[in-house]
Amino acid sequence: MCGIVGYVGSGSALEIVVAGLRRLEYRGYDSAGVALVADGDLWMRKRAGKIDVLEEALSAESPPDSSTGIGHTRWATHGGPTDSNAHPHISADGKVAIIHNGIIENFAELREELTEAGVHLTSETDSEVAAHLVALTLPDTGDDLAEAMRQVSRRLSGAFTLVAVDARRPDRIVGARRNSPLVVGIGDGEAFLASDVAAFIAHTRDAIELGQDQVVELTAGGVEVTDFYGEPVDTKPFTVDWDASAAEKGGYDLFMLKEIAEQPRAVADTMRGRIDRSGQLHLDDSRINDNELREIDKVVVIACGTAYHAGLVAKYAIEHWTRIPVEVELASEFRYRDPIVGRSTLVIAISQSGETMDTLMALRYAREQGARTLAICNTLGSTIPRESDAVLYTYAGPEIAVASTKAFLTQIVAAYLVGLYLAQVRGNMFGDEVRRILDQLADMPSKVDLVLDTVEDVRAIARELAEARAVLFIGRHVGFPVALEGALKLKELAYMHAEGFAAGELKHGPIALLEEGLPVVVVVPSPSSSAMLHDKIVSNIQEVRARGARTIVVAEEGDESVNSVADHIIRVPATPTLMQPLVATVPLQVFSCEMATVRGHDVDQPRNLAKSVTVE
Ligand code: AGP
Repeated sequence: MCGIVGYVGSGSALEIVVAGLRRLEYRGYDSAGVALVADGDLWMRKRAGKIDVLEEALSAESPPDSSTGIGHTRWATHGGPTDSNAHPHISADGKVAIIHNGIIENFAELREELTEAGVHLTSETDSEVAAHLVALTLPDTGDDLAEAMRQVSRRLSGAFTLVAVDARRPDRIVGARRNSPLVVGIGDGEAFLASDVAAFIAHTRDAIELGQDQVVELTAGGVEVTDFYGEPVDTKPFTVDWDASAAEKGGYDLFMLKEIAEQPRAVADTMRGRIDRSGQLHLDDSRINDNELREIDKVVVIACGTAYHAGLVAKYAIEHWTRIPVEVELASEFRYRDPIVGRSTLVIAISQSGETMDTLMALRYAREQGARTLAICNTLGSTIPRESDAVLYTYAGPEIAVASTKAFLTQIVAAYLVGLYLAQVRGNMFGDEVRRILDQLADMPSKVDLVLDTVEDVRAIARELAEARAVLFIGRHVGFPVALEGALKLKELAYMHAEGFAAGELKHGPIALLEEGLPVVVVVPSPSSSAMLHDKIVSNIQEVRARGARTIVVAEEGDESVNSVADHIIRVPATPTLMQPLVATVPLQVFSCEMATVRGHDVDQPRNLAKSVTVE
């Protein structure tokens, strides 16, 4: 997610905006820029790289004095991290500057419209279209920047926070928001706009959170908020009582908790703009044509850690939809086992960072063997997607906590989209079948939201079990990789022995581990998806309970069959079989986070771990 700062007042806009961007650095970014309104003109500088690079460029020049300006740190989604793709974007007439956070889903058709109108676009981004559209709309509004913003916002679909300045109106900044945060800071004779309060709490703690589909017009002495049609709306002022560090975490104690809470939006954003009006799916960047995809006779997923677990979940879906065999390989093992890989193999590399050396080396090996490669990655422009034939980016936003949470859910969603794309181009599924699954996926953000309402119950269970010596996790079908992921989270956060098993494997050895009071977390499939699988796992719960285990059961709402065998029940919303990992994983993330917190560990930066393992 990008960082946004706007200022209008009597102070130095450049100093205040750059300092505000510094407070947003935690969000992760790959380029930065500022625009000032001075002497009837715009003065704009932007650079790929960190703010230090931008400041070096600024110090080499004499920026004008200005008390109105905007600034941006970019987390690339459309178009790599380059100077031209950095924000702010300037309209063709040089008079309007805009910064953007989010994804404008219909940017392609708007780019086409602008090109046909003779506008020369200078970047690969979706954001630039907004700058040109606002400038072109201004004359119809009597140069009313807020009205131009309203009219343009009505034309955009997707998620966007937009902030604009007009060289001819040095006394104001205007913002708009849909599905992406924007807060107003009210100072004494000055005002701020930002993607989160961390950018301005050094100046004021009096804030207003903008609501959905609202436009704000800020001057040094006033704030006007309307809907997208110009109707005034009531605002909800609040006082920020967080310190700067808490503000970076959006008020959460931990980045991990913030990122767990961001999962509904991350899942929604990862789906956004992927499906056109005819229901056709689109990959971000594919140098594999559909005929080559039709030649694929095997899929191999290569990944590490949590990304590997996402691959294990995806296997069930991709095989079910495409009838192509899917092997899921630990990247660190893949190239040493003399794998059978060739032109008809599609190797899918899943990686949040895009820099994991084990996965990168496995990808390079696969390419040497002639395989076609596709990356699922959360970091645009990183090495793994750059070295792949195709890429599907997850739009989870920067994941700061080492323990991966929102990346995991979005990796599953992205892998499902790849599976549906394959099934679509190969004719294994009809368009209506694809759309039915897409509708199921579209329902998931709200279902994940429902699970987030139960986190306090899960945290209480974790506190009760804080002294446990070990915890076992069991599941069946797609619940098995969820069990593996739950165990990994507990290992890396609580430094506890934890192990995930296929529930059917218990009797082949692991059941010997059971002793009085040992916690066993069970991921129970929906009774409506497979009565056989469901009944078998209920039997497994009875087996472990008969040997003294303490059972923590994750089961869907209304599944009363587990009540008699569960010491603790964690309810998740009913979902189609293949969607359950997207809800069942969340309580396990919260469970491990709380267990680690109770044990006094550094949850966001656990011992011995790095966010991106760039060594083999
Ligand atoms: C998961 O919580 C860990 N941070 C780790 O297993 C991680 O998933 C693994 O290192 C892969 O990282 P990547 O997705 O950046 O390639």
